[in-house]
Amino acid sequence: MFLLFLIPSILGSPESDAKALNEALNGIPDGFNESTLITVIYEKKYLRRQKMVETFRRVYGEDQYSNLWNKISYAPDDIRMGIIDNSSAFYDAKVLIHAMRGRSYKKKPIIEVMVSRTSKEMKKIKEASLALGTDLCDQMDCELGFGDFKDVMLELCKADRNEDDWYDVDLALKDCDKLYQFGPRRMLDTDEYGINKILFKRNYEQLRVMFRVFSNYVFTYLWKDEYITLEKRSIETMIDEEYSLSTKDALLEYVKAVKNRIGYFVNLIKNGLTDGAGSNGERQVIRTIFGRTGIDLPEIVKEFGGKDKLVESIRKSVDLYWFTKQALIAILNANCEEC
Ligand SMILES: *[C@@H]1O[C@H](CO)[C@@H](O)[C@H](O)[C@H]1NC(C)=O
Ligand SMILES: *[C@@H]1O[C@H](CO)[C@@H](O)[C@H](O)[C@H]1NC(C)=O
Repeated sequence: MFLLFLIPSILGSPESDAKALNEALNGIPDGFNESTLITVIYEKKYLRRQKMVETFRRVYGEDQYSNLWNKISYAPDDIRMGIIDNSSAFYDAKVLIHAMRGRSYKKKPIIEVMVSRTSKEMKKIKEASLALGTDLCDQMDCELGFGDFKDVMLELCKADRNEDDWYDVDLALKDCDKLYQFGPRRMLDTDEYGINKILFKRNYEQLRVMFRVFSNYVFTYLWKDEYITLEKRSIETMIDEEYSLSTKDALLEYVKAVKNRIGYFVNLIKNGLTDGAGSNGERQVIRTIFGRTGIDLPEIVKEFGGKDKLVESIRKSVDLYWFTKQALIAILNANCEEC
């Protein structure tokens, strides 16, 4: 172990990173400087950050490791918990597990993550949860109460969506027919299982086509010897009229994410930055940036208007702690070089 200190530090090795972290923590050479500490921790890609923290813990010991957590203890949970993870799947898994702790679940983070992850991503999140000792779908089954909100989350948790990118207009028409039968206000045959099979199992392109067809679909049914034609409505109106509470929120978010995933994340960031003090906007921004790091963060940042614009918006936001701002900018610096 001592040999380590005799070798000149190799740029970017876990050992030199750990040393930098230790020095930042001890305030070497210019006294403790929070800004330096944040940069050392956050200006990294996931895997390298995990290696640094693990190496730091091994080399400098448990007391110093506790010291690290103490020094950053006032920062929001969402931004601290990611520092020992090595992928966004682990981060998302923790967000979900945390959101289900306590007396009542926090629906916002659950909805955000569950409606917007692809099946492939969801499978990785489930694996990560298992590695953290939690079977995610079982946990949802236990914690999300009774009713259709839980059913929706469990369907998404199965992560068995078809992920091809073909579409079939005839199939879209058939699906519209089933969805229209679901209304009006569920007077007609309600086949929730059938609805879920359409909404959560069809591939994204197919759903986008179906949503478009849906708005112009003419649905007629026989009622006491009379043909009745339902008023046309958009998929959003259908959801708004047929569902309530958390389920409605989840499905409306889901439709947004299906229609435009990158745009969905951009809006989470935009709204989070301007939500106003006391809202959970800050955590929403952290979750989105941390959760998409290593996946599609560059695309999201480009769609936002570029890194400079995002950094500027983060700096100017009155709703973010100073710590959060520094950390997010550091993450962007290390994970979004070409934005
Ligand atoms: C902390 O370090 C940064 C970067 O090295 C420097 O710009 C800043 O002035 C320092 N702050 C304090 C309080 O020393
Ligand atoms: C990522 O972290 C998890 C949990 O700490 C660990 O089990 C896994 O092996 C790590 N993966 C890599 C590539 O280091």
